[in-house]
Amino acid sequence: MQIAILDGTPKFKESRSGYLINHMENLLGGNNECHQLKLIRKSQWQQYYKTIDESEVILLVAPLYVDGLPSHVLDFMYHYEKYLKDEGKTPNLVMYTIINCGFYEGIQNKIAIEIVNNWCNKIGITKGGGIGIGAGTLLATDKPIPFTAASRKTLKEELQKFKELIEVKGTKDDLYLNPQMSRSKCMRLSDMYWYFCGFANRLTPKKLYVKRQ
Ligand SMILES: Cc1cc2nc3c(=O)[nH]c(=O)nc-3n(C[C@H](O)[C@H](O)[C@H](O)COP(=O)(O)O)c2cc1C
Repeated sequence: MQIAILDGTPKFKESRSGYLINHMENLLGGNNECHQLKLIRKSQWQQYYKTIDESEVILLVAPLYVDGLPSHVLDFMYHYEKYLKDEGKTPNLVMYTIINCGFYEGIQNKIAIEIVNNWCNKIGITKGGGIGIGAGTLLATDKPIPFTAASRKTLKEELQKFKELIEVKGTKDDLYLNPQMSRSKCMRLSDMYWYFCGFANRLTPKKLYVKRQ
């Protein structure tokens, strides 16, 4: 089965969406042909529409931006809908969604997943289900919480189940996941992570708190 994986982060490296995409592609890749479509590359969209036409499944993986979807993702959805109208096409697709956010609670991603669900209803795509991931920022490759850590056990299990659902083009209710650690520990790790990023850019913790006048 051909799967179009829509990459909704504007980042070109070290994104959490990219990390989740690679994980899903590793799970799905054996039996399926996965095509990663980087939505920030607007010049490629016409080609992307054709890839989606040939696919049976769309998997959107994106970050949460201001309680919604990044603007270029919304723009892509608008233009794909217009493409379908102009071409008189009715897609026969099942769509799955994974949104990750910075806040602790996975439920923060609810509005973004509902935006996708409403769009599916509007353009006649079957909505397969979504997963909203809390503390996504801490899903960095190996720092400070490795994906293999106990705090991500449920997430790993749910992504495995999601893969199995995608392979049969099934549907399920949306799911929202917090990491399996206390909020205070999570916040401490987040602070550590930002200090780490600051150090990498020659910023001290003190400089990170400087406010503009
Ligand atoms: C412009 C912008 C807006 C964001 N808005 C939210 C938000 O409303 N809620 C939240 O929990 N995280 C928010 N975040 C944090 C991102 O969702 C989070 O860092 C995510 O892990 C980034 O994923 P990515 O690496 O795949 O881009 C925002 C980040 C940016 C850059």
